[in-house]
Amino acid sequence: MHADDLQALDMSSPAAKRAAYAELARQAEALFAGERDWLANASQFSALIAQQVPELNWAGFYLNRGGVLVLGPFQGKVACVRIPFERGVCGACARTGEIQLVEDVHAFPGHIACDGASNAELVLPVQINGQLWGVFDMDSPRRGRFDQTDADGMSALVSLFVRSSDLPV
Ligand code: SME
Repeated sequence: MHADDLQALDMSSPAAKRAAYAELARQAEALFAGERDWLANASQFSALIAQQVPELNWAGFYLNRGGVLVLGPFQGKVACVRIPFERGVCGACARTGEIQLVEDVHAFPGHIACDGASNAELVLPVQINGQLWGVFDMDSPRRGRFDQTDADGMSALVSLFVRSSDLPV
């Protein structure tokens, strides 16, 4: 797939957002076709999300390195490299294994402000056979940017990434 083949996605209504995530799943499948290298797929995945999902200022992976999250492939400004499980929205996701949907990061105790432009955050666990491999983190400048449709759509995309890649454990 060529970068210029990708059309910016409309997420301005609930129906448009659902259709956009279905389209993103098709685009991700096309990107992963014939490639199982986790680093290539994780890099493409963060680029696809940053390019196609509107109103983001950061999107990328933190990897579980023996109980600490370490920065992985991402798109956006330079970020915090190591995040203990005890800290931040990413740490809360790693600790609980649950999606963190934060409408206002400034109201989240312990939020780590990597990019001052971020006001809302969505973090998803990336798991292999119930074990935490890492998290996928998305930041937006708009408060309340993420809702359950984003969480469901991104959850399906993260599962597709896991199924499509040979992830080192
Ligand atoms: N805000 C995150 C830290 C990572 S950056 O947003 C890229 C957190 O509180 O865990």
